[in-house]
Amino acid sequence: MKFFVDTADVDDIRELNALGLVDGVTTNPSLILKSGRDIIEVTKEICGIVDGPVSAEVAATEYDQMMKEAAVLGDIADNICIKLPLTLDGLKACKSLTDAGHKTNVTLCFSANQALLAAKAGATYISPFVGRVDDIGTDGMDLIQEIRTIYDNYDFKTEILVASIRSVSHVKIAALIGADVSTIPPSTLRALVKHPLTDKGLAAFLADWEKTGQDIAG
Ligand code: G3P
Repeated sequence: MKFFVDTADVDDIRELNALGLVDGVTTNPSLILKSGRDIIEVTKEICGIVDGPVSAEVAATEYDQMMKEAAVLGDIADNICIKLPLTLDGLKACKSLTDAGHKTNVTLCFSANQALLAAKAGATYISPFVGRVDDIGTDGMDLIQEIRTIYDNYDFKTEILVASIRSVSHVKIAALIGADVSTIPPSTLRALVKHPLTDKGLAAFLADWEKTGQDIAG
């Protein structure tokens, strides 16, 4: 499963990329707001840090304007992936952009039928928001399983990009189901490494090592 980082914070992206953990980046209008930066400027910087796809989202809701915005965003760098909302206009723009050779990410997916539509429109990625599905009292990971089954039934090539991840458990279940990508907030990505038995075991090894009086590197 690929790891994308869900942020427009370039310091976080640089640090996690240097660890070899970043296969791509996803942004959205809320993350651009949080960064406090100009969308073109910050997206260009992100595209220079990572080799993989960087999702940049249109702000328009109507097809013609979406296509104008997609042209501007697509010019930022070769690794831009145009992110579009799951509406009829967004699906139409997805089809046009996919046909023109762009990578596309259809976002704000909350049902299996919406994911089916995105695949038929040729989306490179579908972004189901699991945390927000959990928020309304249903299980976001059930949605991922449904989409996996439907895409496999018909051999759709659209990749399932699990979004709105809120916990390390979301990441584990996404991997067990066979999602293609998880886009993960930096804090959750860092939390994946943590285990109390790792900390306890390391402390015990260090204490015993100290008692040997040895020094490996001299
Ligand atoms: O990947 C989408 C994400 O940025 C939304 O997350 O936590 O606001 O639902 P959240």
